[in-house]
Amino acid sequence: MEKKILLTGDRPTGPLHLGHYFGSLMNRKAMQDDYESYIMVADVQALTDNFNQPEKVRESVLEVAMDNIASGIDPKKSTLFIQSQIPQIAELTVFFSNLVTVNSLKRNPTVKAEIAEKRDIFGRDGESVTYGFLGYPVSQAADITIVRADIVPVGEDQLPMIEQTREIIERFHRIYETEIFPLPQAKLSSSPRILGLDGGAKMSKSLNNAIYLKDSPEETTEKLKAAKTDSGSTITFDPKTRPEISNLVTIYSLIHDQKPADAARELAGMTYSGFKAKLATDLNRYLAPVRAKRSELESKAHYVKEILEMGRIRTLEKAEETMKLVRAAMKINY
Ligand code: TRP
Repeated sequence: MEKKILLTGDRPTGPLHLGHYFGSLMNRKAMQDDYESYIMVADVQALTDNFNQPEKVRESVLEVAMDNIASGIDPKKSTLFIQSQIPQIAELTVFFSNLVTVNSLKRNPTVKAEIAEKRDIFGRDGESVTYGFLGYPVSQAADITIVRADIVPVGEDQLPMIEQTREIIERFHRIYETEIFPLPQAKLSSSPRILGLDGGAKMSKSLNNAIYLKDSPEETTEKLKAAKTDSGSTITFDPKTRPEISNLVTIYSLIHDQKPADAARELAGMTYSGFKAKLATDLNRYLAPVRAKRSELESKAHYVKEILEMGRIRTLEKAEETMKLVRAAMKINY
């Protein structure tokens, strides 16, 4: 039986952190045996709000590729590729853009929240929001459909994108009287969400509250030591009222494959500083193989580039196959 097709990806705006690791990388690794998997480094999407920082995006492409491979994405099983190297995605984006109203893009809750966050580039009321940024869900729909993906593992914030993709596909099928795409399903990770070390909603480079896969054990220990906690003195798992300490318990429970509440019971007698030190030791031990692989990859950039080149060739073939179907359906197959 043919395997179903999976596509997912990351924006290259920095190296990947623990939130990515538990929230998506582990999931991807587990699924690559059962699906024909495409893992995309979304450089075109990263440029929609980093168009003025091309060096940052460029550097992060290899970082993200290395983080994926070091975490267990096996180039023999998964196809790892760079978005901008598949021009068919840009072509399909143009055709899809006819099938989406500007209003529905403005209503997309994730896009809306991002525009509000990025006042520095899009202005206080989003008055300078670009056509490219507003339209990135259309491009994301093209990312997914170019390989005719069935399943898209993502975080919750990406659900509006998958919904918009399904709407575009349904419209495409209706208008061009065809049925070339599967309707993709989102697959949410079942692991609990990791917050920033400051208790903020997520780990993020700009907030300086993240532990990176590429961090050294010493950096990791320092960051955990400095992690924000409340003024309490007992370790419990109460994410609503005690988000910071509960977040550290969550991380501990993930590396020990426990339920957070069980981990909290086990840790209950410890001091905050004792717990942070133990967490650092355990986390460093847990990440050691990933980090070893990561630094090996850093010393062989040509190997990582070869993997991306193989991915480019494989994805191009699939993408051109899809575009033949699209052009025929749209009567532009001259
Ligand atoms: N928007 C995703 C993010 O910010 C990255 C992404 C781009 C993606 N294209 C995709 C995810 C297609 C899934 C499918 O993390």
